[in-house]
Amino acid sequence: MSAKVFETQEVQDLLKSAANVDGDGGNVRFKQIVHRLLSDLFKAVDDLDITPDEIWAGVNYLNKLGQDGEAALLAAGLGLEKYLDIRMDAEDKAIGLAGGTPRTIEGPLYVSGAPLRDGMTKMDINPDEDAGPLVIRGTVTDVDGKPVANAVVECWHANSKGFYSHFDPTGAQSDFNLRGAVKTGADGQYEFRTLMPVGYGCPPHGSTQQLLNALARHGNRPAHVHFFVSSDDHRKLTTQFNIEGDPLIWDDFAYATREELIPPVTEKTGGAALGLKDDAYKDIEFNFVLTPLVQGKDNQVVHRLRAAAAA
Ligand code: DHB
Ligand code: FE
Repeated sequence: MSAKVFETQEVQDLLKSAANVDGDGGNVRFKQIVHRLLSDLFKAVDDLDITPDEIWAGVNYLNKLGQDGEAALLAAGLGLEKYLDIRMDAEDKAIGLAGGTPRTIEGPLYVSGAPLRDGMTKMDINPDEDAGPLVIRGTVTDVDGKPVANAVVECWHANSKGFYSHFDPTGAQSDFNLRGAVKTGADGQYEFRTLMPVGYGCPPHGSTQQLLNALARHGNRPAHVHFFVSSDDHRKLTTQFNIEGDPLIWDDFAYATREELIPPVTEKTGGAALGLKDDAYKDIEFNFVLTPLVQGKDNQVVHRLRAAAAA
Protein backbone atom coordinates (compact mmCIF):
# COMPACT_ATOMS: atom_id res chain seq x y z
CA MET A 1 0.00 0.00 0.00
CA SER A 2 1.63 3.21 -1.09
CA ALA A 3 -1.07 5.67 -0.01
CA LYS A 4 0.22 8.15 2.55
CA VAL A 5 -2.28 9.41 5.07
CA PHE A 6 -0.17 10.71 7.97
CA GLU A 7 -0.30 14.34 6.94
CA THR A 8 -4.07 14.39 6.33
CA GLN A 9 -6.30 16.52 8.52
CA GLU A 10 -8.21 13.42 9.54
CA VAL A 11 -5.10 11.72 10.96
CA GLN A 12 -3.73 14.88 12.57
CA ASP A 13 -7.11 15.45 14.24
CA LEU A 14 -7.19 11.82 15.35
CA LEU A 15 -3.75 12.21 17.01
CA LYS A 16 -4.79 15.38 18.79
CA SER A 17 -7.98 13.78 19.99
CA ALA A 18 -6.27 10.61 21.18
CA ALA A 19 -3.81 12.59 23.32
CA ASN A 20 -6.53 15.14 24.24
CA VAL A 21 -4.02 17.90 23.55
CA ASP A 22 -6.63 20.62 23.20
CA GLY A 23 -8.85 19.36 26.01
CA ASP A 24 -8.94 20.55 29.60
CA GLY A 25 -7.43 18.66 32.50
CA GLY A 26 -4.89 15.91 32.54
CA ASN A 27 -1.18 16.46 32.66
CA VAL A 28 0.08 18.83 29.97
CA ARG A 29 3.54 17.26 29.82
CA PHE A 30 2.07 13.77 29.60
CA LYS A 31 -0.27 14.82 26.81
CA GLN A 32 2.64 16.34 24.91
CA ILE A 33 4.69 13.14 25.21
CA VAL A 34 1.82 10.84 24.25
CA HIS A 35 0.97 13.01 21.27
CA ARG A 36 4.56 13.00 20.06
CA LEU A 37 5.19 9.28 20.55
CA LEU A 38 1.89 8.35 18.93
CA SER A 39 2.62 10.70 16.02
CA ASP A 40 6.06 9.16 15.53
CA LEU A 41 4.49 5.70 15.56
CA PHE A 42 1.77 6.64 13.06
CA LYS A 43 4.37 8.22 10.81
CA ALA A 44 6.51 5.09 10.93
CA VAL A 45 3.48 2.98 9.99
CA ASP A 46 2.95 5.19 6.94
CA ASP A 47 6.62 5.45 5.96
CA LEU A 48 7.42 1.75 6.32
CA ASP A 49 3.95 0.60 5.33
CA ILE A 50 3.74 -1.48 8.51
CA THR A 51 0.97 -4.02 7.96
CA PRO A 52 -1.97 -4.78 10.25
CA ASP A 53 -0.46 -8.22 10.92
CA GLU A 54 2.79 -6.58 12.03
CA ILE A 55 0.93 -4.09 14.22
CA TRP A 56 -1.00 -6.85 16.01
CA ALA A 57 2.15 -8.91 16.43
CA GLY A 58 3.64 -5.86 18.14
CA VAL A 59 0.59 -5.27 20.34
CA ASN A 60 0.57 -8.92 21.42
CA TYR A 61 4.29 -8.69 22.07
CA LEU A 62 3.71 -5.83 24.52
CA ASN A 63 1.18 -7.97 26.39
CA LYS A 64 3.69 -10.80 26.63
CA LEU A 65 6.46 -8.41 27.68
CA GLY A 66 4.31 -7.19 30.56
CA GLN A 67 3.31 -10.72 31.56
CA ASP A 68 6.98 -11.65 31.69
CA GLY A 69 7.79 -8.52 33.71
CA GLU A 70 10.60 -7.75 31.29
CA ALA A 71 9.93 -4.20 30.09
CA ALA A 72 12.93 -2.79 32.01
CA LEU A 73 15.13 -5.58 30.69
CA LEU A 74 14.11 -4.80 27.13
CA ALA A 75 14.71 -1.08 27.73
CA ALA A 76 18.34 -1.88 28.53
CA GLY A 77 18.71 -4.40 25.72
CA LEU A 78 17.47 -1.89 23.16
CA GLY A 79 19.96 0.71 24.37
CA LEU A 80 17.35 3.03 25.89
CA GLU A 81 19.00 2.97 29.32
CA LYS A 82 22.41 3.59 27.74
CA TYR A 83 20.91 6.47 25.79
CA LEU A 84 19.81 8.10 29.05
CA ASP A 85 23.43 7.83 30.26
CA ILE A 86 24.72 9.36 27.03
CA ARG A 87 22.33 12.27 27.56
CA MET A 88 23.40 12.76 31.20
CA ASP A 89 27.08 12.61 30.16
CA ALA A 90 26.42 15.30 27.55
CA GLU A 91 24.59 17.44 30.11
CA ASP A 92 27.58 17.17 32.49
CA LYS A 93 29.96 18.10 29.70
CA ALA A 94 27.85 21.10 28.73
CA ILE A 95 28.07 22.51 32.26
CA GLY A 96 31.77 21.66 32.64
CA LEU A 97 31.22 18.95 35.24
CA ALA A 98 34.03 16.40 34.97
CA GLY A 99 36.26 14.16 37.01
CA GLY A 100 33.84 11.74 38.65
CA THR A 101 33.68 7.98 38.26
CA PRO A 102 31.76 7.39 35.03
CA ARG A 103 28.13 6.43 35.39
CA THR A 104 26.67 3.38 33.77
CA ILE A 105 23.25 1.78 33.72
CA GLU A 106 21.47 0.56 36.83
CA GLY A 107 19.71 -2.38 35.19
CA PRO A 108 16.49 -3.85 36.54
CA LEU A 109 17.82 -6.05 39.37
CA TYR A 110 18.47 -3.77 42.35
CA VAL A 111 16.64 -4.51 45.60
CA SER A 112 16.52 -1.87 48.32
CA GLY A 113 16.78 -2.65 52.02
CA ALA A 114 20.12 -4.45 52.37
CA PRO A 115 21.42 -4.06 55.95
CA LEU A 116 23.79 -1.08 56.26
CA ARG A 117 27.13 -1.80 57.97
CA ASP A 118 30.05 0.43 58.89
CA GLY A 119 32.97 0.23 56.47
CA MET A 120 32.83 -3.46 55.57
CA THR A 121 30.23 -6.13 54.93
CA LYS A 122 30.19 -9.79 53.96
CA MET A 123 27.73 -10.19 51.10
CA ASP A 124 27.61 -13.95 50.57
CA ILE A 125 24.95 -15.59 52.71
CA ASN A 126 24.39 -18.78 50.70
CA PRO A 127 27.18 -21.21 49.84
CA ASP A 128 28.10 -21.28 46.16
CA GLU A 129 30.43 -24.15 45.31
CA ASP A 130 31.37 -22.78 41.94
CA ALA A 131 32.36 -19.29 43.09
CA GLY A 132 35.69 -18.28 44.64
CA PRO A 133 36.12 -15.49 47.17
CA LEU A 134 36.37 -11.90 46.03
CA VAL A 135 37.18 -8.74 47.96
CA ILE A 136 36.05 -5.43 46.49
CA ARG A 137 37.44 -2.41 48.27
CA GLY A 138 38.47 1.18 47.81
CA THR A 139 37.91 4.74 48.82
CA VAL A 140 35.14 7.21 48.15
CA THR A 141 36.53 10.68 47.47
CA ASP A 142 35.34 13.93 46.00
CA VAL A 143 36.80 15.31 42.77
CA ASP A 144 39.62 16.95 44.76
CA GLY A 145 40.66 13.58 46.21
CA LYS A 146 39.32 14.28 49.68
CA PRO A 147 37.80 11.20 51.37
CA VAL A 148 34.02 11.35 51.72
CA ALA A 149 32.77 10.25 55.16
CA ASN A 150 29.23 8.89 55.64
CA ALA A 151 28.89 7.91 52.01
CA VAL A 152 26.67 4.87 51.52
CA VAL A 153 28.01 2.34 49.02
CA GLU A 154 25.46 -0.22 47.88
CA CYS A 155 26.61 -3.23 45.93
CA TRP A 156 24.80 -6.06 44.14
CA HIS A 157 25.81 -8.79 41.75
CA ALA A 158 25.00 -12.25 40.42
CA ASN A 159 26.11 -15.67 41.72
CA SER A 160 28.12 -18.30 39.81
CA LYS A 161 25.02 -19.11 37.71
CA GLY A 162 24.48 -15.50 36.68
CA PHE A 163 21.37 -15.21 38.89
CA TYR A 164 20.54 -12.38 41.30
CA SER A 165 18.89 -13.01 44.68
CA HIS A 166 15.21 -11.96 44.70
CA PHE A 167 15.06 -12.67 40.94
CA ASP A 168 16.59 -16.15 40.98
CA PRO A 169 14.31 -18.58 39.07
CA THR A 170 15.87 -21.55 40.90
CA GLY A 171 14.89 -20.14 44.30
CA ALA A 172 18.39 -21.00 45.52
CA GLN A 173 19.25 -17.66 47.15
CA SER A 174 18.06 -15.94 50.32
CA ASP A 175 16.99 -12.31 50.34
CA PHE A 176 20.05 -10.05 50.09
CA ASN A 177 22.48 -12.79 49.13
CA LEU A 178 25.24 -10.97 47.21
CA ARG A 179 23.73 -7.60 48.11
CA GLY A 180 25.31 -5.28 50.63
CA ALA A 181 25.51 -1.71 51.86
CA VAL A 182 28.29 -0.01 53.81
CA LYS A 183 28.78 3.46 55.21
CA THR A 184 32.24 5.05 54.95
CA GLY A 185 34.09 6.47 57.93
CA ALA A 186 36.39 9.51 57.96
CA ASP A 187 38.89 7.68 55.70
CA GLY A 188 36.24 7.20 53.00
CA GLN A 189 37.02 3.48 52.77
CA TYR A 190 34.61 0.68 51.96
CA GLU A 191 35.00 -3.08 51.58
CA PHE A 192 32.76 -5.90 50.36
CA ARG A 193 33.71 -9.53 51.01
CA THR A 194 31.85 -11.65 48.52
CA LEU A 195 32.06 -14.33 45.80
CA MET A 196 33.03 -13.94 42.16
CA PRO A 197 29.98 -13.42 39.90
CA VAL A 198 29.51 -14.65 36.37
CA GLY A 199 27.66 -12.85 33.60
CA TYR A 200 23.90 -12.61 33.39
CA GLY A 201 21.84 -13.95 30.51
CA CYS A 202 18.26 -12.94 29.68
CA PRO A 203 15.66 -15.60 30.53
CA PRO A 204 16.01 -17.87 27.46
CA HIS A 205 12.26 -18.19 26.87
CA GLY A 206 11.33 -14.63 27.85
CA SER A 207 10.08 -11.91 25.53
CA THR A 208 13.33 -9.94 25.62
CA GLN A 209 15.30 -12.89 24.31
CA GLN A 210 12.52 -13.54 21.79
CA LEU A 211 12.97 -10.04 20.34
CA LEU A 212 16.77 -10.29 20.44
CA ASN A 213 16.60 -13.61 18.57
CA ALA A 214 14.66 -11.94 15.76
CA LEU A 215 17.44 -9.34 15.57
CA ALA A 216 20.13 -12.08 15.64
CA ARG A 217 21.49 -10.64 18.92
CA HIS A 218 22.48 -12.43 22.10
CA GLY A 219 21.13 -11.42 25.52
CA ASN A 220 24.23 -11.84 27.66
CA ARG A 221 26.27 -9.56 29.86
CA PRO A 222 29.88 -9.93 30.99
CA ALA A 223 30.45 -10.63 34.70
CA HIS A 224 29.90 -7.33 36.51
CA VAL A 225 29.21 -5.73 39.88
CA HIS A 226 26.72 -2.90 40.45
CA PHE A 227 27.01 0.09 42.77
CA PHE A 228 25.07 3.04 44.03
CA VAL A 229 27.18 5.55 45.95
CA SER A 230 25.22 8.19 47.86
CA SER A 231 26.32 11.11 50.00
CA ASP A 232 24.33 14.11 51.19
CA ASP A 233 26.77 16.58 49.71
CA HIS A 234 27.39 14.92 46.34
CA ARG A 235 25.47 13.56 43.42
CA LYS A 236 24.40 9.94 43.67
CA LEU A 237 26.56 7.73 41.46
CA THR A 238 25.07 4.73 39.64
CA THR A 239 27.75 2.54 38.15
CA GLN A 240 29.15 -0.96 37.63
CA PHE A 241 32.48 -2.51 36.89
CA ASN A 242 33.17 -5.50 34.70
CA ILE A 243 35.36 -8.41 35.71
CA GLU A 244 38.56 -8.06 33.71
CA GLY A 245 39.09 -10.79 31.14
CA ASP A 246 35.43 -11.66 30.55
CA PRO A 247 35.07 -12.32 26.80
CA LEU A 248 31.81 -10.34 26.62
CA ILE A 249 33.27 -7.12 28.03
CA TRP A 250 32.92 -5.36 24.70
CA ASP A 251 29.85 -7.30 23.68
CA ASP A 252 27.40 -6.50 26.50
CA PHE A 253 23.77 -6.77 25.39
CA ALA A 254 22.91 -3.90 27.79
CA TYR A 255 25.77 -1.60 26.65
CA ALA A 256 27.08 -0.85 30.15
CA THR A 257 30.82 -1.32 29.54
CA ARG A 258 33.11 1.71 29.76
CA GLU A 259 36.90 1.84 29.48
CA GLU A 260 37.30 3.27 33.01
CA LEU A 261 35.11 0.56 34.55
CA ILE A 262 37.33 -2.50 34.07
CA PRO A 263 39.58 -2.58 37.16
CA PRO A 264 42.46 -5.07 37.42
CA VAL A 265 41.80 -8.29 39.33
CA THR A 266 44.66 -9.28 41.66
CA GLU A 267 45.36 -12.72 43.16
CA LYS A 268 45.95 -12.61 46.91
CA THR A 269 46.39 -14.96 49.85
CA GLY A 270 45.38 -14.46 53.46
CA GLY A 271 41.66 -14.95 52.87
CA ALA A 272 41.31 -17.29 55.86
CA ALA A 273 42.16 -14.44 58.22
CA LEU A 274 39.45 -12.35 56.56
CA GLY A 275 36.84 -15.08 57.05
CA LEU A 276 36.76 -15.96 53.32
CA LYS A 277 36.02 -19.51 52.22
CA ASP A 278 39.52 -20.05 50.76
CA ASP A 279 42.87 -18.56 51.64
CA ALA A 280 43.51 -17.64 48.01
CA TYR A 281 41.16 -14.94 46.80
CA LYS A 282 40.69 -12.31 44.15
CA ASP A 283 40.98 -8.66 45.06
CA ILE A 284 39.63 -5.68 43.16
CA GLU A 285 40.43 -2.15 44.22
CA PHE A 286 37.92 0.30 42.86
CA ASN A 287 37.85 3.91 44.01
CA PHE A 288 34.75 6.04 43.63
CA VAL A 289 34.96 9.73 42.84
CA LEU A 290 31.75 11.63 43.55
CA THR A 291 30.79 14.82 41.78
CA PRO A 292 29.37 17.93 43.42
CA LEU A 293 25.73 18.94 43.48
CA VAL A 294 24.62 21.17 40.60
CA GLN A 295 23.25 24.45 41.93
CA GLY A 296 22.69 22.71 45.25
CA LYS A 297 20.76 19.84 43.64
CA ASP A 298 21.42 16.22 42.77
CA ASN A 299 20.43 16.23 39.11
CA GLN A 300 21.29 12.59 38.53
CA VAL A 301 18.95 10.91 40.98
CA VAL A 302 16.67 8.67 38.94
CA HIS A 303 13.21 7.70 40.17
CA ARG A 304 12.03 4.34 38.92
CA LEU A 305 10.12 1.41 40.33
CA ARG A 306 12.56 -0.75 42.27
CA ALA A 307 12.16 -3.99 44.17
CA ALA A 308 12.36 -3.79 47.95
CA ALA A 309 12.77 -6.34 50.69
CA ALA A 310 13.09 -6.20 54.46
CA ALA A 311 16.35 -7.33 56.04
C1 DHB B 1 20.37 -5.86 32.83
C2 DHB B 1 21.31 -5.30 33.63
C3 DHB B 1 21.97 -6.08 34.50
O1 DHB B 1 22.90 -5.58 35.30
C4 DHB B 1 21.72 -7.41 34.60
O2 DHB B 1 22.44 -8.10 35.47
C5 DHB B 1 20.77 -7.96 33.82
C6 DHB B 1 20.10 -7.18 32.92
C7 DHB B 1 19.69 -5.01 31.91
O3 DHB B 1 20.05 -3.86 31.89
O4 DHB B 1 18.79 -5.45 31.23
FE1 FE C 1 23.56 -6.83 36.58
